[in-house]
Amino acid sequence: MKHTDIKDILCTPDYIGRDVTVCGWVRTARDSKNMAFLALNDGTTLNHCQIVIDKNGGVELPAEAAKLGAAIKVIGTVVVNENNGTHEINAKEITVLGVCPADYPLQKKFQKLETLREMPHIRVRTNTFNAVFRVRSVMAAAIHRFFQERGFVYVNTPLITGSDCEGAGEMFKVTTIGYSDKYKNADEYYADDFFGKRAGLSVSGQLEGEVAAMALGKIYTFGPSFRAEKSNTVRHVAEFWHVEPEVAFAELPDVIELAEDMIKYIIRDYMEKCPEELKFFEQRFQKGLTEKLLNVLHNDFEIVDYSDAIELLKKADVEFQYPVEWGCDLQSEHERYITEQVYKKPVFLINYPKEIKSFYMKQNPDGKTVAATDLLVPGVGEIIGGSEREADLDKLLAAMKERNMSLDDYGDYLDLRKYGSVPHGGFGLGFERVIMYVTGMENIRDVIFYPRTVGNIR
Ligand code: 4AD
Repeated sequence: MKHTDIKDILCTPDYIGRDVTVCGWVRTARDSKNMAFLALNDGTTLNHCQIVIDKNGGVELPAEAAKLGAAIKVIGTVVVNENNGTHEINAKEITVLGVCPADYPLQKKFQKLETLREMPHIRVRTNTFNAVFRVRSVMAAAIHRFFQERGFVYVNTPLITGSDCEGAGEMFKVTTIGYSDKYKNADEYYADDFFGKRAGLSVSGQLEGEVAAMALGKIYTFGPSFRAEKSNTVRHVAEFWHVEPEVAFAELPDVIELAEDMIKYIIRDYMEKCPEELKFFEQRFQKGLTEKLLNVLHNDFEIVDYSDAIELLKKADVEFQYPVEWGCDLQSEHERYITEQVYKKPVFLINYPKEIKSFYMKQNPDGKTVAATDLLVPGVGEIIGGSEREADLDKLLAAMKERNMSLDDYGDYLDLRKYGSVPHGGFGLGFERVIMYVTGMENIRDVIFYPRTVGNIR
């Protein structure tokens, strides 16, 4: 169907005086005896195009075209609205493409985000979700551009995996058969299953990413990861999009520098390409958002040792729900205190106790900590988790044995330490978490198309 995007009509002076065809959905309708006005949106911009219908001029407005949510096609002339200077269309012909009955759920101008979550197929038609999904798209493109400009190779790691990357029991099972009495034990059951062994949905592409980095030097993945953890919080979903670069010949400071450069690059790109959306989020969801992002661009991120952070938390004049001791895993309240109250900017926490981190992280000479880093940001908490990897085979084997891991499942991974092992590292960025940060949206369910959370799928 030949037509022009409303975004172009609204922004391009060349269209003034020309006849155009536009298509879209009716957002508001005002109908009187002589004149009618429709606000039309086709999804290409947050702004609507006003369609002016001069009934005395012989233009017919079909009754179904003046209904909220109706899909219509309009042929008309682009003119400038004398009152506000915007471009609008004086209609000549209106065709109804799809009627919309009165039970259309978006009758009220502002609906609660909670209500909209119940209808993911409808909420995309609101300005909020139009803006969220456009920002996701622009930031995804920026992530690819950032890595491609630096010579990173985009690698697609498998989503179905035979190993649990993090060594934590939070993997969804992949199976084609149900367990039954027919099997004497789990081994027999898995042997009969599709892959002949236990399989699951990948929690991270890192281990395969490391394999690729040991050949290609610098790689990144950008795809979904799955976590079967039952954390019903505002920042956890069971299926999220994960950006994971992995770099050979790199140590922890290189990983941190790469993460900071990437975050600044994608925020700069977002601010340049989505000024309308940024303004919208600033007005509707987070006052001071633009200033917050400018501060991120113009200041260095803080780098703080885990042990120093523990001291800060112990001295804090705040009643935390969870007590703080060296060795504890930081809770969201602790992370937020560090980044929101103490530094008021993004903070890389580094050198965590080895007991609370994954087996693959580089063991520091103190014997107690590993060269790990989490990037914490105000308002959201952790958006990145990464580390330098343990490149020494014996140390890696020792860490795996301490955790009672099955070495047989990690044969390929261990080979990397056998054949030309090098210092290397990388990180994982939760794409939804960074979208929350740059939009000011407070619930991860509102920055992903169809959120999957415990007890909730559609
Ligand atoms: O800290 P995580 O678990 O690290 C890894 O998976 C490493 N293998 C990454 C690497 O070094 N290549 O996860 C990385 C990030 C977190 O910081 C968070 O932003 C996001 O992934 N994340 C989630 N996002 C939404 N919902 C969940 N359930 C998430 N779990 C992790």
